[in-house]
Amino acid sequence: MPLVTTKEMFEKSMKEHYAIGAFNINNMEFIQAITDAAEEAKSPVILQVSSSAIKYARLPYLLKNVEAAVESTTIPIALHLDHGPDFETCKKCVDAGFTSVMIDASKYDFEENVRFTKEVVEYAHRFGVVVEAELGTLAGVEDEVNVADDDAKYTNPEQAYEFVQKTGCDSLAIAIGTSHGAYKFKGDAKLRFDILAKVKEKLPNTPIVLHGASSVIPEIVEMCNKYGGNIPGAKGCPDDMLKKAGQSGVSKINVDTDLRLAMTAQIRKVFFEDPSVFDPRKYLGVAREEITKVVLHKIKDVFCSENKA
Ligand code: G3H
Ligand code: 13P
Ligand code: ZN
Repeated sequence: MPLVTTKEMFEKSMKEHYAIGAFNINNMEFIQAITDAAEEAKSPVILQVSSSAIKYARLPYLLKNVEAAVESTTIPIALHLDHGPDFETCKKCVDAGFTSVMIDASKYDFEENVRFTKEVVEYAHRFGVVVEAELGTLAGVEDEVNVADDDAKYTNPEQAYEFVQKTGCDSLAIAIGTSHGAYKFKGDAKLRFDILAKVKEKLPNTPIVLHGASSVIPEIVEMCNKYGGNIPGAKGCPDDMLKKAGQSGVSKINVDTDLRLAMTAQIRKVFFEDPSVFDPRKYLGVAREEITKVVLHKIKDVFCSENKA
């Protein structure tokens, strides 16, 4: 099956109350690991690429690897630009064959965010490409933008409605307490499900997206630290909260940090246990298997998208 947009997978997810996993990719191992898991679970999946991932891996290499994954699997796969910083980047990805792009103008004021988003929507829709936009500010790090915890702004449900009407975006990322990276909560994890409910009330047919949704799996953080890492006190979104989010109207759940941690933990373990290893297949192979395990767990036990392909 060729690359698909997120339209159908989101429609089904909204009807049946589960979420689709959107996993960040940076190289071949990530692409294989994620699509192996999705194929095994017979789940639709979104592969997403940030602009820093494009800078690192280079677009043609990413595209060819994604094309290979599409040819090797039977599940619906969407290719999505994550946190598109401007029109030009979004256009480049639309022109290159992405089926979905995000324009992240959430750091601008409302009217400017509308203006930037609308411009991308108008272009992308001409080519049948869907657009995710963001309203509200996540705490933590979004690419090069640093947002202090105190400045974290939850999404205003009234504004969310107005924003979708004005921009015509296909899905909306909202801020309800998650943040990017491995340090999401200072105290107990807390998500504003009341805001999510209000947004859904206003926008029952708009797929909602949750960024910064890694669970920062404690066993994997422990493994990183045991084998020489230094990631003390890392904390993510617990699985039960993410499951509830999927059941409460979130259609897309973004995961990057958990895959980075999984890869790092396994590579550290190999190097620690056998410093004589210098064959990359030895450490990248186990790293790839660990990512598959993490993605499979999320698809089956947390997002509940198994057998929805
Ligand atoms: O939301 C940000 C993603 O985790 C991508 O991060 O820009 O370091 O690739 P990156
Ligand atoms: P995490 O840092 O929680 O994995 O979030 C990833 C993300 O939101 C990508 O857009
Ligand atoms: Zn994000």
